[in-house]
Amino acid sequence: MKKNKSLKVSIIMGSQSDYKTMKLTEKTLKKIGVSFETRIISAHRTPKRMYEYALKAKENNIGVIIAGAGGSAHLPGMISALTTLPVLGVPIESKKLKGLDSLLSIAQMPKGIPVGTLAVGEDGAINAALLAAAIIANNNLSIRKKLDSWRLVQTKSVKKNPK
Ligand code: RP5
Repeated sequence: MKKNKSLKVSIIMGSQSDYKTMKLTEKTLKKIGVSFETRIISAHRTPKRMYEYALKAKENNIGVIIAGAGGSAHLPGMISALTTLPVLGVPIESKKLKGLDSLLSIAQMPKGIPVGTLAVGEDGAINAALLAAAIIANNNLSIRKKLDSWRLVQTKSVKKNPK
């Protein structure tokens, strides 16, 4: 692993269909200036790809992995089982159960293999980016400043008067 300054965020997802949600993670990281890479990796359809990606993540300069998955949503947990990098899970809103299945699958990891679980869908995708940026910022002053500015802009955008 290189110096923390150059650490990037990995955004992975179980299917192309998850990208409409996970592109918000990309958009948010771009706004803050955090470098990232994006891949489709399915725990059940491409298990070899998942295994190889997780094992090489540290040497590929990844500092945080954000994994979006829907349905039985085992990708975040399986990735976390293969690396000690922090893994954040975004439960994708599924058609049949509206993402409750994804949420419970990702949140209810048994002790020993952690996944930080975000909200279902778009809110989770955006907050995963903000949380990943906050983790990277622990060792990167430039990202810390950009994150602080982003927060300030958000705070200023909230009007006092609703009319
Ligand atoms: C999961 O199954 C994916 O993360 C996706 O959310 C869900 C449905 O996948 P597709 O049938 O759209 O490929 O693996």
